[in-house]
Amino acid sequence: MAKYKIAWLPGDGVGNDVMDCAKIVLDTIGLDAEYILGDVGWEFWKKEGNPLPDRTIKILKETDCCLFGAITSKPKDEAQKELAPELQDKGFVYSSPIVGIRQLLNLHTNMRPCKAFEGNALNYRDDIDLVVFRENTEGLYAGVEFHPVPDEVFKALMTHNKMKKFKNVPLDDLAISTRIFTRKGCQSIIRQAFEYAKKHNRKSVTVVEKPNVIRETSGMMIREARKIANDNPGIELWETNVDAMCMWLVKNPQDYDVLVASNMFGDIISDLAAQLVGGLGFAASGNIGDNFALFEPTHGSAPKYAGQYKVNPTAMIQSVKLMLDWLGEKEDAEKLDQAIAKVIKESRIKTYDLGGRNTSLEVAEEVVKRFEDL
Ligand code: IPM
Ligand code: MG
Repeated sequence: MAKYKIAWLPGDGVGNDVMDCAKIVLDTIGLDAEYILGDVGWEFWKKEGNPLPDRTIKILKETDCCLFGAITSKPKDEAQKELAPELQDKGFVYSSPIVGIRQLLNLHTNMRPCKAFEGNALNYRDDIDLVVFRENTEGLYAGVEFHPVPDEVFKALMTHNKMKKFKNVPLDDLAISTRIFTRKGCQSIIRQAFEYAKKHNRKSVTVVEKPNVIRETSGMMIREARKIANDNPGIELWETNVDAMCMWLVKNPQDYDVLVASNMFGDIISDLAAQLVGGLGFAASGNIGDNFALFEPTHGSAPKYAGQYKVNPTAMIQSVKLMLDWLGEKEDAEKLDQAIAKVIKESRIKTYDLGGRNTSLEVAEEVVKRFEDL
């Protein structure tokens, strides 16, 4: 029996292209793993009215971790139109499978490293090396939303003084998306940011919120951050509002080590941070729970490039690196990181985003060659 069982979920569009690259890399490394292919994405939404079929959830529950490609998602009305005719008007509602997996398997931590590889022509600066810790199941992503607003919800909210200005709005003209934080969720993400900082000799953890306006949720996050900072005297806690953080990340990204934020703010700043080191082609992420984790590039499925092996597979290969790290295969993870760095530095074999003409597969083959040289 193989040492690891890994769920293999390519998803849509270029998800398949980059997962083929991941396979090339894993086969060379010779990871002792069995890969179990799972159905996920748009095709299954159209055919079955469910982009995350139960059989796929079963696979996730029976494996050690998951590699995930990319997913197509469209707004509600468009999604409805593309549903198979026999499934129309049967009450199927599209929801994002990746958000669903995070919730179902309680993958509470999203970790997104943004490191400028030496020689990457797309770097904004060469000395950027930060990691975003994003709370991954709560906040605006918890899915507690109302439209139209049910009577009982409206009545309960009307006990709040600030609701008075909405008192004459018809319930169908009101939409509410809640932002729910738990103390446990705040503590967990902040602790992990500090633990990471300690382990990797980082000097600061920056908590990115907006407590001057969103007093209760952001406020809880900041209060918990201060307490946890007290237990970690060697690491500075910096507090920044999310809007200012966007400005600082453009102005002085090299100053930051570890950023920690709630779900939606983490989503936003991680795209900004990714662009500073070459864009989504370089942005990998780990969705990590207590006993299971899913690794994915943060880019989308880019349907227009599907099957062309055109997109940069670096984010996917870095996701493999994060997975190896999480599995405890530290030596291979480190070697893979070095191999990726060499290919970027040499700048010989590169995809179109870097001004090259090579295919994704050629980039993967090159990484593999460098890996074997190490
Ligand atoms: C991400 C993505 C997802 C998110 C989308 C695809 C639902 O933007 O992983 O950052 O919003 O979390
Ligand atoms: Mg995002």
